[in-house]
Amino acid sequence: MARTSRFPGFYKITVDERRAVVSDATGCEAGDIARSLDGGGLDAETADKFVENVLGTYALPYGVALNVRVNGKDHVVPMVVEEPSVVAAASNASKMIRAGGGFEAEIDPPLMISQIQLVDVDGPALAEEAIREHKREILALADAAIPGLVARGGGARDVEVRRLGGPEDRMMVVHVIIDCRDAMGANLVNSVAEAVADRLAELAGAKVGLRILSNLCDKRCVRIRCNVPFDVLSTDDMDGAQVAAGIVNASRFAELDPYRAATHNKGIMNGVDAVVIATGNDWRAVEAGAHAFAAKSGQYSPLATWRVEGGALVGRLEMPMALGTVGGTLRVHPGARLSLRMLDVEGAGELGAVAAAVGLASNLAAVRALATDGIQRGHMGLHARSVAVAAGAKGKLVEKVAALIVEARDITLDAAKRALDVLTSTGEGATAIED
Ligand code: MEV
Repeated sequence: MARTSRFPGFYKITVDERRAVVSDATGCEAGDIARSLDGGGLDAETADKFVENVLGTYALPYGVALNVRVNGKDHVVPMVVEEPSVVAAASNASKMIRAGGGFEAEIDPPLMISQIQLVDVDGPALAEEAIREHKREILALADAAIPGLVARGGGARDVEVRRLGGPEDRMMVVHVIIDCRDAMGANLVNSVAEAVADRLAELAGAKVGLRILSNLCDKRCVRIRCNVPFDVLSTDDMDGAQVAAGIVNASRFAELDPYRAATHNKGIMNGVDAVVIATGNDWRAVEAGAHAFAAKSGQYSPLATWRVEGGALVGRLEMPMALGTVGGTLRVHPGARLSLRMLDVEGAGELGAVAAAVGLASNLAAVRALATDGIQRGHMGLHARSVAVAAGAKGKLVEKVAALIVEARDITLDAAKRALDVLTSTGEGATAIED
């Protein structure tokens, strides 16, 4: 039976009840969910194998985005994030997008770039020619450094040469293009860079400089498109067409102004990073790639844009996405392994499409809020819940304290403590905790 990611009322039920719903829908056993997530999904002993000087682990909330349908397939999408409203916003916007058929994704092959810098190049034209003539030899050298990947159907695919700077710089860079299959590929690509560098320098009559991957993996992009019917965009005060026009204005603002584009893209990365972290991937690499790609034209630009086309709001997002579903952290992190089982993706490409789709949903939620009520209304309501918890509220008291401080327009720890005192002294606290 096809999976669904539509669970109406999910936010109202308890954590245990949510685990049961997700377990039924995804086939991940509730016990497995508990074992993989309780204690933050990672014990200190395992963490000690990851990094150095370990004292313990540091947990973040693990939620799921609902309603996400990519290329006709539903996904329950794990998100690890500390910011209130990100998960709710991604779920709500995905529901609007679902009303227009869901996300359509186009995924590039998993090609990463291995960079070998050559310095003290005296004859760049001859160097370039020599490298091009020995392309097959370089590809073979590269493949010999990554036999496991070659056995899995990946490997070196191409060699490109670029001259950098002016004649006084005497510098060039060689790119070896590697198909990383379902690996993120950093270690593989770095191994190739180190394996081929000496031979490249010899061919170029130059010296070896740096040997490392590029995080601007613009051959490994994902493109997401969605159609949002006007009627699902409407608010109490604005009809759908007005909201759509406001969203197009928001898009144009980001297209014209890098100051706004940075914040627009931050909203996209709210969704993308949360999925990247939940699946044990390197979010710094994804961030670096995203922002370098956004600036590639010479002006820092939005990764997603919005237009009205054919009577609907159409969103488009394009960004590099270097993710893995095998290797590295994924082998050992119980939380990351659970996320992949829950997501039910075929491989790294499909995972990248889901992460980018959640990024586009996050962007839609943000620009819709900004073009209508403003961001603070929804945001502060959720923020109030964290403040209530920080003030010591438990169980149903959290919602009650949050509601009081939102109503008083005073979302501070002091106000939350006062509200908690009032509720407990009037006896409401006891009932709230019991029910
Ligand atoms: C906040 O985390 C993200 C937003 O600032 C994004 C945006 O402005 O588009 C709301």
